[in-house]
Amino acid sequence: MIVELSFVLEPRSKHMSVDSTKTEVGSYFISNYPPYSQWKSEFLPQIQAAMQRQPGSVPLGLYLHIPFCRKRCKFCYFKVFTGKNANEIETYVEALCKEIELVSQQPAMGGRPFRFVYFGGGTPSFLSPKQLTSLVDRLRANINWDKAEEVTFECEPGTLSESKVQTLRELGVTRLSLGIENFNDAILEENGRAHLSKEVFRAWEWIEAADFPNVNIDLISGMVGESWDNWKDNVAKTLELSPESVTIYQMELPFNTVYSEGILKQAADSQVADWTTKREWVKFAFEQFAEAGYSQSSAYTMIKDPSKVSFSYRDNLWKGSDLLATGIASFGHLSGVHYQNLPEWHQYIGALSEGRLPLGRAFTPTAKQALIRELILLLKRGYLEADYFEKKFGVDILAEYADTWQHYADEGYLLQDADRIELTTEGLLRVDGLLPAFFEAEFRGVRYT
Ligand SMILES: C[S@@+](CC[C@H](N)C(=O)[O-])C[C@H]1O[C@@H](n2cnc3c(N)ncnc32)[C@H](O)[C@@H]1O
Ligand code: SF4
Repeated sequence: MIVELSFVLEPRSKHMSVDSTKTEVGSYFISNYPPYSQWKSEFLPQIQAAMQRQPGSVPLGLYLHIPFCRKRCKFCYFKVFTGKNANEIETYVEALCKEIELVSQQPAMGGRPFRFVYFGGGTPSFLSPKQLTSLVDRLRANINWDKAEEVTFECEPGTLSESKVQTLRELGVTRLSLGIENFNDAILEENGRAHLSKEVFRAWEWIEAADFPNVNIDLISGMVGESWDNWKDNVAKTLELSPESVTIYQMELPFNTVYSEGILKQAADSQVADWTTKREWVKFAFEQFAEAGYSQSSAYTMIKDPSKVSFSYRDNLWKGSDLLATGIASFGHLSGVHYQNLPEWHQYIGALSEGRLPLGRAFTPTAKQALIRELILLLKRGYLEADYFEKKFGVDILAEYADTWQHYADEGYLLQDADRIELTTEGLLRVDGLLPAFFEAEFRGVRYT
């Protein structure tokens, strides 16, 4: 869930305050701070200089963006391409390999092994087994992830084949994330998904046989056409599959989705369930998973066995690790500098064909902004420990944000004790709506991306 650039957003508080109930166009996930709209091309020298410096001792991760999909889902806000032919895909894969070669030579790598690797999209599983093996072979000429504790690979069920699943396992994937979203074919079709439920069940047999350490299932609460009965069925079917991890998003309507454009053009009402209903669906699902023995891992994710499964990418990223971003429009962070790659095809391919890193824009957060970033991201986990922030930033977050904690405690969204903030279930279910209160004043009224 890293590439979120191609849409223009208004501040969430304007469209989706914690109280508003309609799912209006303009809502969004908060995944970084300061807002992406503040990252600028004129700050590029900051990331260019960071690439030249020896790094600190923070963990390093690698993100590879594969921007292709079979179809554009009507709710999707990611930067994706649906009409590229085999030659264009090869051009992209070649550019990505060139980019890896260039970044692997930067002093900022500092000889650090990758702690985690994430193939995200778009749909990485869009690539054929041959394209995947060839990509990984070429990447291995410059880097390896033998020491990585986690290699995630995002999949759309209808793109999988038995041989592709086996190839993924052989290439070292440890965490396979499957975008099921819903089990009802009419709902999948209405929402523009390229797969149907039979493809999920077919793929699941291959996935189980390949024995990945961690398989995650994505669901969305609030797809167009959703009902209580169908949602209960989704939860039951997911429980039957018994994945190690389940992630449930509440449907957002950023400006650039097909649904959002339709609503704005026709001044129509949104057909997505309201926030109260979506939260009730998620709450119901979390209760069912808890009853089956799952534990809460964040506001979106539950896991079957915390002693066996973690989510290295998320946990390291939320704690400020370095993330080497590769691929078109990817977002990264290196030695204290946020950056994003060039977002347009010709820019990205063009830069690499000239042997240049495809850096697009950057931003160096102040110490206070780095603290806010970690505070809001770690709050999505469901709790904050004051001690952690005191040690890392020298700030007492309980005192610094005392009024906000008190306000949210009065609303029933959190509990506070001497050194810890803990979200209640109600707080966890609306956590994205609670976060803009921590933004600095100058970033409250600005676009997010
Ligand atoms: C990059 S996709 C996962 C891989 C693959 N492209 C797929 O869709 O199967 C990441 C996830 O974002 C979620 N997502 C996309 N658009 C969303 C929206 N508007 N609201 C909530 N979740 C969304 C979906 O659950 C999706 O599985
Ligand atoms: S398959 Fe995934 S990335 Fe592609 S359009 Fe659908 S939700 Fe977006």
